[in-house]
Amino acid sequence: MSQYHIKSLEEYFQVYHKSVRQPETFWEEIAEENFVWKKRWDSVLDWNFEKHEIKWFDGAQLNITENCLDRHLATRGNKTAIIFEPNDPSEPSEHITYRELHRRVCQFANVLKDQGIKRGDRVCIYLPMIPQLAVAMLACARIGAVHSVVFAGFSANALAERINDCECKIVVTSDGSFRGNKTLNLKAIVDEALETCPTVASVLVVKRTKEEVNMKEERDFWLLPLLDAAYKDCDPEIMGAEDPLFILYTSGSTGLPKGMLHTTAGYMVYTAYTFKNVFQYQENDVYWCTADIGWITGHSYLIYGPLANGATTVMYEGIPSYPDWSRFWHIVEKHKVSQFYTAPTAIRALAKENISFVEEFDLSSLKVLGSVGEPLNEEAWHWYNDIIGKGKRPIVDTWFQTETGGIMISPIPFVTPTIPTFATLPIPGIQPCLMNDEGNEIKGNPAEGRLCIKFPWPSMARSIWGNHERFKETYFSLFENKYFTGDGALRDNTGYYRITGRVDDVIIVSGHNLGTAPIEDAINEHPAVAESAVVGFPHEIKGNALYGFVILKETGETRDHDNLRKEINQIITERIGPIAKLEKIQFTIGLPKTRSGKIMRRILRKIANNDSSDLGDISTLLNPEVVEEIIEHSKV
Ligand code: WTA
Repeated sequence: MSQYHIKSLEEYFQVYHKSVRQPETFWEEIAEENFVWKKRWDSVLDWNFEKHEIKWFDGAQLNITENCLDRHLATRGNKTAIIFEPNDPSEPSEHITYRELHRRVCQFANVLKDQGIKRGDRVCIYLPMIPQLAVAMLACARIGAVHSVVFAGFSANALAERINDCECKIVVTSDGSFRGNKTLNLKAIVDEALETCPTVASVLVVKRTKEEVNMKEERDFWLLPLLDAAYKDCDPEIMGAEDPLFILYTSGSTGLPKGMLHTTAGYMVYTAYTFKNVFQYQENDVYWCTADIGWITGHSYLIYGPLANGATTVMYEGIPSYPDWSRFWHIVEKHKVSQFYTAPTAIRALAKENISFVEEFDLSSLKVLGSVGEPLNEEAWHWYNDIIGKGKRPIVDTWFQTETGGIMISPIPFVTPTIPTFATLPIPGIQPCLMNDEGNEIKGNPAEGRLCIKFPWPSMARSIWGNHERFKETYFSLFENKYFTGDGALRDNTGYYRITGRVDDVIIVSGHNLGTAPIEDAINEHPAVAESAVVGFPHEIKGNALYGFVILKETGETRDHDNLRKEINQIITERIGPIAKLEKIQFTIGLPKTRSGKIMRRILRKIANNDSSDLGDISTLLNPEVVEEIIEHSKV
């Protein structure tokens, strides 16, 4: 039996029980047998959920790029590591071997060094889905710099906020990005952001779209000539197991985005382990994850997990609808993709299109279908299963978070029997539990409550950059000695988990986490706005969309409401990005509030859901009369 690669349900249960009974032995054996280390750890796990300190493999020394690149060179040097599929289907795809990737990473690492970047420095990467993005991340890891990848759909303001929070020294970007038939001038966005980023000394610019950009003297450099001049060898920096690997920002219910800090050894071990099992990756498979690398799924399951296993991973630059809705299936056929991993919002959008977009293509290479990011509803599950999987490929509905680093609850394909809407069983090493409102664990099945994790796992975030207090407060204060996920879940009679959705003020729109507070702050910046509240409501494709209730300063505001709506969405686009735009905006005279002045979002959520039949007791509100008025106008 191999603990690293589970092949039957019986093995799964055996391995799972061992992982709970002897977690340290379990992870120690996996770490020992499947990775290369410069020095062995002194202890496998030190933890204290009360002090919120977690250390895995402390004392060990390694470099993650040695595990993702160097060690494959002898046996897989000529194997393709990354297949790059460009936005434009007439542009040839690129096959980058492990040897070639290794060389590019070393050269890029030398360029970073030449720019004065040292171990521990933060590097902001703001790039489209092109190979240089993967190379830049790995180059940081090579020299021990900490990458902070920012999704290249965020606005200048959101980018600046993230750069300043972790005080990046350098930004890696491109002239522009191709998105379907549009191009986006990324460099201009970076220029705007850098007006308020005093820590950034230089900018490396990849040439991609070849459009005109401003290059600021002594700050901005085209990357290519620097790469050409750089040495081809770069010894990996020897890192401690708990040295930071990267920071990745995620939205919280309030305040600034949280810079989740991930460290080296535990993250590597866990993402590699879950990649192998959840996708049952075999040596000659071609694996494709459609997520953008700007999100955790892209970090863990497009780059680190696959490369640590010596896999071939596809990187697609464009969007599912370009040049038409058959593009994904075209790519599956073209590269003979074996494992396909995408998001429910994409599945729902694809399912709405004509079936002929699928039927034209040979999808027989597919073995495993994956989903992540939000609940995969039953209808979408069936379409995925019937139309893409032809009823024969297991669907892995994988649950995890930026904070968890790797997949936590998921079927293991060909091993765990699946049921639509259930993420099924925990990965070995993961001890989930459900908590009730009184703060007690709900034992027995079936059960429904708040999803917590009772025991540390190797890839959990170690802190929020620069704010350990907030880390404690957000994840470890609600339930004693447990990590609280922010999600609700139910467990059926057989112990299978279904994730029911967020129980806090985070709304997941098209798979992107959005906190309501920063959106409300943006709305309130409009000079005509007095106050606002944002809630989510169900949307056929996006899963959720945003509904804003807005109070204007002057109730007799004579300005055209449609114009105001446009202006509000414009501010949101500037402050956060187009993904946070409101689908509906209702102007109202008041917001339902408790006597202590707290907005009753529960009521607004029901109204936005078109379900105002049972609002519960509203008589205790400060202003019950506004509820009627809001309901009345919501129907207009
Ligand atoms: C949600 C994405 C239901 C959940 C990897 C979680 C899911 C949040 C699933 C994290 C799933 C993720 N079923 N909900 N299979 N996967 N979620 O940080 O609410 O972008 O807390 O990480 O996505 O989003 P994040």
